[in-house]
Amino acid sequence: MPEKKKKLKYKFPAEFLWGTATSSHQIEGGNENNWTEWEKGGHIADGSLSGRACNSWELYKEDIRLVKELHNNTYRFSLEWSRIEPEQGHFDHDALRRYRDLAHECRRNGIEPIVTLYHWTQPLWFARQGGWLNKQSPLWFRQYVTRVAKELGRDVTLWCTINEPLIYSYNSYFKGKWPPQARSFWQFKKVLRNLAKAHELAYFSLHDGSSDCRVGIAKNNQFFESYLNQWFNKMVVKLVSRFWNHSFLGKVRDTLDFIGLNYYFHNVVYASMRGYVVMNENKHISDMGWEIFPRGIYETLMELKRYNLPVYILENGLADARDDRRADFIREHLRYVHQAIREGVDVRGYCHWSLLDNFEWADGFEPKFGLYSVNFKTFERTPRASASVYADIAQNNGF
Ligand code: NOJ
Repeated sequence: MPEKKKKLKYKFPAEFLWGTATSSHQIEGGNENNWTEWEKGGHIADGSLSGRACNSWELYKEDIRLVKELHNNTYRFSLEWSRIEPEQGHFDHDALRRYRDLAHECRRNGIEPIVTLYHWTQPLWFARQGGWLNKQSPLWFRQYVTRVAKELGRDVTLWCTINEPLIYSYNSYFKGKWPPQARSFWQFKKVLRNLAKAHELAYFSLHDGSSDCRVGIAKNNQFFESYLNQWFNKMVVKLVSRFWNHSFLGKVRDTLDFIGLNYYFHNVVYASMRGYVVMNENKHISDMGWEIFPRGIYETLMELKRYNLPVYILENGLADARDDRRADFIREHLRYVHQAIREGVDVRGYCHWSLLDNFEWADGFEPKFGLYSVNFKTFERTPRASASVYADIAQNNGF
């Protein structure tokens, strides 16, 4: 007897991409970049170092097996620039070959690779010359991208040039939290300008190498609401949202084939002449204290309609060590994604953050974002219960 087809309440478009996302420094282990250096200064909250991370540099085939186990048809990963170009102008063939194998392994398994070219970590030679503050930096980035495209272009169609430009430059150049811990509005703006330029150069370089590639960025957009129904509060919220969600996209919109959305945050903002405070209700929060607010993904998607471009959700997830919120989190967010699709947003895919528990930047290994938990001594991966919920959704293309 053929298995009875489940009736789905939320059916996604044919060809919809279901995946997870990771980044090189957070999972590979053994990287020598500006973060590796900085970690040694005791900056990580739980006292850890990225060290061998999830050892995905060696276990990448095992990771692709997990992607398969999730019935996913896409996988978003990033390339470690410092491995590929450890010295300026010198490219490491073994590293390039290893990434080619990874992209190839995806293709062999029917998985569409989505490749991020810059996920926050820099080669030391780049950082020592001022990183993204150096006006040559976009040109250096282009050189790296051109080389990568030559090696991986056959297997990769979907490219994400830069991950979360605002989160990165805000934390590294304005808030003083991440390397190089600057606190300057001027530097923050300058880095954003250079990142936009770097994206544009990379866009043309990727298109020169292949006619059918599609290039975008991963943009952290947030849902901002006004606490008071009052003109001043509303105006501040409008300005903040315009700056955070749209200023960078506005700059690069002519060189985007798609928008990658990373959705994590909702902010109910109280603003007066005296200041700005976030007043979220926080009824549901993740282990990191981040509010869980599924409707925000719908609101941020609807805001992207104005660009008239395909959208891939390139990140959405939560730290949940006990795994007692993740399955609902996924279903609730997807319900809202489905609604946005019904209302005309061209959403083509969803990548959950993350496949594995991994190195969460200045927070170390404590936050558990993975559908699979990782034993950081043996590197054994174990599915959490929510992994099978997500696998069912991907397999059925809905729920
Ligand atoms: C977005 C970042 O791209 C990723 O690196 C990070 O781990 C997640 N947010 C969770 O904070």
